[in-house]
Amino acid sequence: MSVKLLAASLTKLSFETSVPVVKDDIEVKNRSGSYKIRVGPGLLAEAGTELAKLKLGKKAAIIADESVAKLYADRLQQSLKAAGFEICLSTLAGGETSKDMSRITPLLSFLARNKVERNDTVLAFGGGVLGDLAGFVAAIYLRGVNLVHLPSTLLAMVDSSVGGKTGVNLPEGKNLAGVFHPPQLVLSDTDTLKTLQRRELTAGLAEVIKYGIIADAELFAQITDGAPADLTPVIMRCVKIKARVVEADEHETTGERALLNFGHTLGHAIERVAGYGKYLHGEAVAVGIHAATLLSQRTLGLPAEDVEAIKKTLVKNGLPLQALGLNITEIKQVLAQDKKVMDGVNRWVLSPKIGKALVTSKVKPADVDAVIEEVLTSKK
Ligand code: GLY
Repeated sequence: MSVKLLAASLTKLSFETSVPVVKDDIEVKNRSGSYKIRVGPGLLAEAGTELAKLKLGKKAAIIADESVAKLYADRLQQSLKAAGFEICLSTLAGGETSKDMSRITPLLSFLARNKVERNDTVLAFGGGVLGDLAGFVAAIYLRGVNLVHLPSTLLAMVDSSVGGKTGVNLPEGKNLAGVFHPPQLVLSDTDTLKTLQRRELTAGLAEVIKYGIIADAELFAQITDGAPADLTPVIMRCVKIKARVVEADEHETTGERALLNFGHTLGHAIERVAGYGKYLHGEAVAVGIHAATLLSQRTLGLPAEDVEAIKKTLVKNGLPLQALGLNITEIKQVLAQDKKVMDGVNRWVLSPKIGKALVTSKVKPADVDAVIEEVLTSKK
């Protein structure tokens, strides 16, 4: 596949009206059935009744980010207990450096020690790293147990809790080991965002901006001067876009799901070369979005006003346009190992116009070099 124009298939994802609120729960269909995503305040208190409705095993094994657990584990456990679940809890430090194979064995042992059975459920409670890690553990323990995501960060709510990707990083690159293991339920309690650090919240906005650029010009317009205080409608709108993309291409085989990687090709390389954890995922993605925007202008003729609007939106939402001080040779080496590389050639997710995206390998190496130079080095 040299150039794959996916804009046509994405038109069905476009939102025709300016009404931003998606009120209902969102249903995601997958190969093995479907699952529900609920977004809103107060949902941790409903976790027990929601889990009971699924008629799974009686044990709820919570794997939680330690700082999230300090604030919210009681609320969650009360709700599960009231619904009759037996609970076990393991906590671990969040942050990208935790997303490592070395964390997997202790978590598997935690499940085994607590005699978690095949019909029981792992509850992944935290941000994106925690969700990927706990999801991976749920996928491989007893060759797969039930999984419920309880995302507590904006980034996890709009992206990583939806679509079934689980896994860990390798020293060679981000997310290079993992499996698809969709959850049975996602409950995004927006009350948890009230205690989220500003930096984490800002990083999550990079993924929101990404959805606007690839699929939803109206969403993009709503956040150009900064995101609204009540993020629930924005989160639901992003989740709806992601739900439709992963339904169309659950295992990233047709290219449609790859569109969600706008800004991620360089973003992942920045995270890897800077050292996992130096940049939050969303911060690295913001720089990647800037790079993908400039490359879109050179390759697809993305209009100059769209380029300026994207830069302005990143800045107004507190996100960086550049990442300085990284070794560019190393960045290029890591780019060559990107998950989207096919037959040794990088495929880039680019946008011809805000609200649309496509995947292409027809990108001039000199343009890639110029863009990398622009976002990774300071202006002379
Ligand atoms: N975060 C990209 C995906 O879920 O495919």
